[in-house]
Amino acid sequence: MTQQNTVVAQMRQLIQILAKHNHAYYVMDQPTIADSEYDQLFHQLKALEEQHPNLVQPDTPTHKVGGKALSKFENITHVVPMLSLGNVFNQEDLYAFARRAEERLPNQKVEYDVELKFDGLAISLWYEQGVLVRGVTRGDGETGEVITENVKTIRNLPKVLSSETTAIPELLEVRGEVLMPKAGFEKLNAENEAKGEKTFANPRNAAAGSLRQLDPSIAASRPLAFYAYGIAQCEPNHGQSTMSASLEWLTQFGFAVGERHFVCDNIQDVQKAYEQINLERPNLSVEIDGMVIKVNDLKQQQTLGFLSREPRWATAYKFPAVAALTTVDHIDWQVGRTGTLTPVARLNPVAVGGVTVSNVTLHNIGEIHRLDVRVGDTVSVYRSGDVIPKVEKVWPEFRPDNTVEVHLPETCPVCESPVVMPEGEALARCSGGLYCAAQRIEAIRHFVSRKAMDIEGLGDRWAESLLHLDLLKDVADIYSLHEHREQLLTIEKMGEKSVQNLIDSIENSKKTTLASFIYALGIRGVGETTARMLANTFQTFDALRNADIEALKKTPDVGEITAEWIIDFFKAPHNLEVVDRLLAAGIHWDIPTAPTRQPLNGESWVITGTLSTMGRDDATQMLQALGARVSGSVSSKTKCVVAGEKAGSKLEKAEKLGVRVMTEAEFLEFMQQY
Ligand code: IVH
Repeated sequence: MTQQNTVVAQMRQLIQILAKHNHAYYVMDQPTIADSEYDQLFHQLKALEEQHPNLVQPDTPTHKVGGKALSKFENITHVVPMLSLGNVFNQEDLYAFARRAEERLPNQKVEYDVELKFDGLAISLWYEQGVLVRGVTRGDGETGEVITENVKTIRNLPKVLSSETTAIPELLEVRGEVLMPKAGFEKLNAENEAKGEKTFANPRNAAAGSLRQLDPSIAASRPLAFYAYGIAQCEPNHGQSTMSASLEWLTQFGFAVGERHFVCDNIQDVQKAYEQINLERPNLSVEIDGMVIKVNDLKQQQTLGFLSREPRWATAYKFPAVAALTTVDHIDWQVGRTGTLTPVARLNPVAVGGVTVSNVTLHNIGEIHRLDVRVGDTVSVYRSGDVIPKVEKVWPEFRPDNTVEVHLPETCPVCESPVVMPEGEALARCSGGLYCAAQRIEAIRHFVSRKAMDIEGLGDRWAESLLHLDLLKDVADIYSLHEHREQLLTIEKMGEKSVQNLIDSIENSKKTTLASFIYALGIRGVGETTARMLANTFQTFDALRNADIEALKKTPDVGEITAEWIIDFFKAPHNLEVVDRLLAAGIHWDIPTAPTRQPLNGESWVITGTLSTMGRDDATQMLQALGARVSGSVSSKTKCVVAGEKAGSKLEKAEKLGVRVMTEAEFLEFMQQY
């Protein structure tokens, strides 16, 4: 051996020892040697490198990990696509998987390789002449992102392949999973919490978040690990004939594979291995969400091949979601932007699959009844799709005497307006649409929109800032904004001119139509067409406000449910107060002239495609003025479809249903008669 070779061999040995201890220290959080010993080995390597700078190895730990930050990741197409796996969830499905495979391999003995299913991120690693040249994410399976610099910071991953006994392949593409072992994850979260920084919900998110960083020094500071589970390409061929042997072959280059894996003679033994690992799961160093079952023989794998995007020779055997028991402390009702009330159970915090769960949504009052959940009850909680916590069931055997039943609140927890829940509806709502702080922004956006009060600029640009300034508690406050010029000027990008434009626009909006005003109120179920019908039917706002359900139902377009919503709206004292303030601010309209003739009364029309002589809105108004209802979808009840240029599926549907169709020219001619 030349002196050079000896030096390189020494360097390689030191690098390997340091890498091993690094992994134990950073990733497993279980140091295997004292810090001082580590330092000594490190300095020994450094000294060798100083003496022989031309022999410095590319993967030396003496070079600071983490290269330059990137501005974005490059995309690359996988030469061998990264496919996905089918799933089985129980013994029956597992046996069916085996039967399907074995039927295609008549008179052959089939062995199974059983591996951990790592819950991290799949990546692909390219080694050319034994040097790691590229790391790529799975992406959509066809194309992934090049994350080489981040991948190079993963401590247990060989950056250069070396082996005492085996020749280094010219090209090797290894597939595997990047994850954050549990110990490292907990340590990272504890440190971040102490620093007041963001903590991660689970190890998978932490690993993903680390790999997606453009600055590799972030990935370098995170305890990531790589576990190999397959070889996509190897030139020259590695010569192994089974899956288990090829994984073993990878370990000699320093690749980590799962801490547990089995070769089973038959599918019954696979089931046993699965049950055993399910029990051992809490003691494993990494998160897994199941096992991967693979036909062990590589030739048999080839014979089986793929069915669409999944191999016939492998499947994932998922674990049932982890559940944990805890008790319900109380139930809060949250009010969404559209006024829906959602019950949220506040739980005594409990760890579910490594994540602390203290809140869980119960969706609606129906779900509360279905589960029969009460405050004080013991419930089992699981994470569905391993992310969103859900209540699995209530355990009546643990129910104490003093549980409290859960009822839908009568008034909104935010604004105290009555809560309504029309028959047949699953969701309860706050009726304080115009007043409720939770719904304010939506109410304002709607109120100022073009077809409502048409106040330009306010909806998109200023609404949020005005809310923050506390200048808009409800829509009626819009009409006192002119008293707050000074405050308006403090809003970013709001100059004298914009303030004046806004105030003018608000002033101009006061002259409106009854239909626009009704529409602006945002009453549930009352869209533009219904608002117009109500205006035509009732003629005055007072008549509408005082209408009873029977009178409302006589309006074309208003059914039982919408009628009830209108009644609910005008029953809520807060809504009445806001309406009164709006009217007092000077909103006014001309009394609608009831169209003398409504020849199209009750007919449903549809306008589709692009009209060349008028906008769709104009055509809609023309039809509505004649009493027609303009709908967005074609059904057998549709009277007529006006089809402009590029009319698509609606025209097709009309033709199929035999509904009358008019071209734009025919429509114009038709309108002439009125
Ligand atoms: S083998 C043809 N083995 O599971 C696909 N995959 O649903 C061969 N995974 O994104 C995949 N542990 O990242 C295989 N021991 C293991 C695995 C494993 C986790 C992931 C893989 C892929 C997903 C497939």
